[in-house]
Amino acid sequence: MGCFGCSGHSTDDSDFPRNKNNRRNANNSNKNKPHDQRQAVSGPSSCSSSSSSSVKNASKESVRKEEASKDEELLMEVRNMSLHGGEDSKVGKAIMRAQLFTFDQVIAATGNFRSDYLLGEGGFGKVYKGFLEDTNEVVAIKQLDQDSLQGSREFAAEVLTLSTAEHPNLVKLIGFCAEDEQRLLLYEYMPLGSLENHLHDLSPDQKPLDWNTRMEIAAGAARGLEYLHVKMKPPVIYRDLKCSNILLGEGYHARLSDFGLARVGPSGDKTHVSTRVMGTYGYCAPDYAMTGQLTFKSDIYSLGVVLLELITGRKAVDYSKDRNEQYLVAWARPLFKDRRNFSQMVDPLLQGQYPMKGLYQALAVAAMCVQEQPNMRPAISDVVMALNYLTVQKYDPNNSAQSSRRSMTLSPGKGRVADRVKGF
Ligand SMILES: Nc1ncnc2c1ncn2[C@@H]1O[C@H](COP(=O)(O)OP(=O)(O)OP(=O)(O)O)[C@@H](O)[C@H]1O
Ligand SMILES: [Mg+2]
Repeated sequence: MGCFGCSGHSTDDSDFPRNKNNRRNANNSNKNKPHDQRQAVSGPSSCSSSSSSSVKNASKESVRKEEASKDEELLMEVRNMSLHGGEDSKVGKAIMRAQLFTFDQVIAATGNFRSDYLLGEGGFGKVYKGFLEDTNEVVAIKQLDQDSLQGSREFAAEVLTLSTAEHPNLVKLIGFCAEDEQRLLLYEYMPLGSLENHLHDLSPDQKPLDWNTRMEIAAGAARGLEYLHVKMKPPVIYRDLKCSNILLGEGYHARLSDFGLARVGPSGDKTHVSTRVMGTYGYCAPDYAMTGQLTFKSDIYSLGVVLLELITGRKAVDYSKDRNEQYLVAWARPLFKDRRNFSQMVDPLLQGQYPMKGLYQALAVAAMCVQEQPNMRPAISDVVMALNYLTVQKYDPNNSAQSSRRSMTLSPGKGRVADRVKGF
């Protein structure tokens, strides 16, 4: 989302290009993509005063240098992986889990990138369906743009993160191909596509997701994030949580995908990692967009936006709406204050099929996650606990008691989310 603290109002989008085809990081010379939403969003200097701008520019330059050297390190790791199968690399053992493919094998799997195998296109390349004859496996193959510097960096980060991670709510990396200029990633195929395909712009024959499925998806995404934040060693900040990166398997089982922007979290007594501001407009935490200081709480904000999308059926950013309704968080914040608004916030496609108490609770979690102050946002384990609790309280359309109203007002504040939610 835009520079909330900078403008004093979350609907100020002056730092963000609106044109979908003009959203790429200025460092990136790549051609524009029709579905390119990810970008370098407004960085620290866009919010700085003129007197401090040279200091900020200098520190921005040092962040850039530091990142460039880290990028080089990562690329070396992946080069080692492709040359030696990983045994010389410091994460080599873990990486051996991901298979190395030749470009010929990828060509065979995709029928030479047949256009009818195209599953979608993101900011850094196209995704094709493929078939691996040797293992009888259907896969999704992402071909990163060859002329993209950012793409190389993404490739390295993605291979390193996913090959060392293993969790039911993270997409599985089957392997990769790094031959000459080609950079390809092979994932398990997710038959239901992304959450975005099931939430927004539905075709007339598509059935909207029901309430219970929405809560299951939210809880699954949160569990994936909890694994990255708490269980991975070292812990990882995802930085790209959004509906198009939540892929759905059989039974709408959610798996997080796209780890190209992932970063190792702060260590020791550090509270943040300084980075160029990258992310997707509408999901990016305002504090991170303003300062470039990436924290675990940046991901919590994005999770709150996804939860709001699941509850309301609205997009994180929707320019087809009236100006005061274009930014989901900016639209929702004033509505959180009065319970009489809650039933107006819910997705009309649910046609009233949701539990009133569950709606209050889900909105309470979302409101806490999208708080402006990062330290007021809950930790991921608390969010997981609260969302798990919500999934256990299944909505039963035949139980009229579930729709009864209760008087309450949301006041997002501190305290354990699960306890606050159970109290509603
Ligand atoms: N493992 C997969 N299984 C099935 N479909 C997939 C898989 N990975 C990606 N897709 C499809 O390909 C589309 C494009 O994915 P990609 O990650 O490249 O872009 P995006 O997430 O839409 O945008 P961005 O580049 O901004 O993250 C997805 O929306 C999804 O529909
Ligand atoms: Mg994606």
